[in-house]
Amino acid sequence: MKRLAIMAALPQELGDLIAQMQAAGEVRTVTLGRREYYVGCARGVPAVVTLARIGKVAAAATASALIHVFEAQAIVFTGVAGGVHADVRVGDIAVANALMQHDLDASPLFPRFEVPLLDRARFDADRALSDALAAAADAFIAEEGAALAERFAVAGPRVHRGLIVSGDRFIASHDALFALRDALPDALAVEMEGAAIAQVCYEHGVPCAVVRTISDTADAAAPASFADFLTAIAATYLSGILSRFLRAIG
Ligand code: ADE
Repeated sequence: MKRLAIMAALPQELGDLIAQMQAAGEVRTVTLGRREYYVGCARGVPAVVTLARIGKVAAAATASALIHVFEAQAIVFTGVAGGVHADVRVGDIAVANALMQHDLDASPLFPRFEVPLLDRARFDADRALSDALAAAADAFIAEEGAALAERFAVAGPRVHRGLIVSGDRFIASHDALFALRDALPDALAVEMEGAAIAQVCYEHGVPCAVVRTISDTADAAAPASFADFLTAIAATYLSGILSRFLRAIG
């Protein structure tokens, strides 16, 4: 791997990654398009790390810069998501095997969800990167699960693999959640960036993968659950998963 890009929307979603890169050696910081890109080594893996901010436009613009300016050979997105499937609970981890935009609808010109003129709605995540992320998530839970239960009251977290859906909307009501479940019964989780990155990566032939920790269940309790999870827990999860993932691929 010549250079891996690791991105998230918000600082808590990268855990201690940037601090670790800075402690381990020289990190070049490049400011571009109101974002900082940190170029260096993450646990021995040549990497460029950045925060996209929230939403599909922010994510797509950042992914494009990572590919064209920073010559990223693969992109991994880490962060939190709302659980959509009834089996997915706060504290679980979702690794995407495919991503799609749940709010894209150019019907009747094109089928609902399809990206016009690209002939597809779903974009596959890279199998090898996703396997490595899922293995890192499994190891994190096996090794840290008991401590998580004690510190954060998340008992028995599980790793799910499947469809993650993205849209420019924070889902926080019973009606919106059930509309998503009805339209996309196989959706595991909802967030606001992953499918945008997957589309840009597909267009450029760059492998990508997405790992999300479930911060809420996309219902009326979601805003408070999201904020609590982000402040108290997200960084522990994402540092734990990323450090194991980087060690395995390095
Ligand atoms: N990211 C985390 N929780 C979310 C939710 N409920 N809706 C959209 N994005 C999210």
